[in-house]
Amino acid sequence: MAQRIQGTEDLYGGYMRSWQHMLDEARELFGTYGFDMIETPAIEQLDTFVHGIGESTDVVRKEMFRVFSGALLPDVMERGSEAHLKPRQRMAMRPEGTAGVVRAAVEHNFIPQGGAPVKLWYGAPMFRGERPQKGRLRQFHQVGAEVMGASDPAVDAEVIIMLMTYFERLGFTPGSLTLRINSMGDAACRPAYRASVKQFILDHADEMCEDCLERAELNPLRSFDCKNDHCREVMTAAPLAKDNLCEECAAHYAQVKAYLDEAGIAYVEDPTLVRGLDYYTRTVFEVELDEAGVGAIGGGGRYDGLMELEGGRPTPGIGFAVGFERIELALQRQGKSLETPAEPCVYVACTPDQRLKVFSVAQALRAAGVRTEEDYQARSLKSQFKQADKVNARLCVVLGDDEVAAGVATVRDMASHEQTQVSLDELASYVAAQLA
Ligand code: HAM
Repeated sequence: MAQRIQGTEDLYGGYMRSWQHMLDEARELFGTYGFDMIETPAIEQLDTFVHGIGESTDVVRKEMFRVFSGALLPDVMERGSEAHLKPRQRMAMRPEGTAGVVRAAVEHNFIPQGGAPVKLWYGAPMFRGERPQKGRLRQFHQVGAEVMGASDPAVDAEVIIMLMTYFERLGFTPGSLTLRINSMGDAACRPAYRASVKQFILDHADEMCEDCLERAELNPLRSFDCKNDHCREVMTAAPLAKDNLCEECAAHYAQVKAYLDEAGIAYVEDPTLVRGLDYYTRTVFEVELDEAGVGAIGGGGRYDGLMELEGGRPTPGIGFAVGFERIELALQRQGKSLETPAEPCVYVACTPDQRLKVFSVAQALRAAGVRTEEDYQARSLKSQFKQADKVNARLCVVLGDDEVAAGVATVRDMASHEQTQVSLDELASYVAAQLA
């Protein structure tokens, strides 16, 4: 029997409705902030991710699914390398949405210089070659939002407020989530800070794990996040970003916090929050439900240098993404779910001689926007009622010879079993009103 790949999920039934619900809430809420939807391809040139996310990140080094066309694969396998391929022949499945959205903004040049910022949101599958476990998948679904063209700290605050409002609208108990924030500095102050953290790790080399020693060279700030408890213990004495911000970054961070305070948004300042993607500058944030044990349910930050890394003009940006599967798991911890009930439907039952009439009544009901099921197997009326129950029909419309002769239908309420006669002319509007 063919099976799905480990770490991937089929979305159907209630789970599919949960994902749809997340998209619907995003469309509605983000729309009030001026966001439009964007969809970028699930595969991009490898360089789009390498340049943006960063060569030294785990996502790029270890987790990206690489794509080669069937024609090129034998050649790559034989040479044991893809170095000879042209950039457009080296592709990858997107591990996240930001790099692709920024690539699209650069390619289509849709950020007006000096104009209003562009606000875009997406809901789409992402792919990371991680070891599958609870809340960690190889194909997962993100809803994300990006604002490009504004460096105002009010935008940082608005993006965070929108995110926290989104979580509330998805059903999280108010106040149950922890929002952690930090500022990572910018191109002016980060290099010196990074160097001081690197020096700290080297000074404590005999106490740190192999991975951290490698990180010292590649990405020293990631040592704050090391899985090894002892390394994290040692890192508590390392220099902190908030003490090493330049004047502009410190002022920006202070204003973001002032706006969040003004909006009454609770947050925890976490000077060790560094995030796993290299493009971040200044504000970064993550949201977690502590007892859920599935890691962050959402995170994001500012990326003022990313547009240039993707070949565009210097343009500030900020955004976030949340993970559908982790949100569903975290909500379940609170005894809730994203799942919405299936749409109510009506079942049109018929007697053998009225098949054509049923066919046209079903069409009329659908034209009136009613979800309509009918019998395709010439079942007895009794088994049609059973079938109506099975498909969760709220109403059953019965069209027998007598009804059709009298120009009416019998409408049966499936819960109360009450029956009402309705004229065929008024049937569609009657049923639509009953289901509404
Ligand atoms: P991220 O923190 O890598 O950020 O991912 C965002 C969210 O995606 C996580 O908080 C988590 O809920 C979910 N997620 C990540 N990896 C997995 C996985 N393997 N399985 C299940 N869920 C996962 C980003 O992706 C950035 N692009 C966010 C952003 C947008 N920053 C600025 N703009």
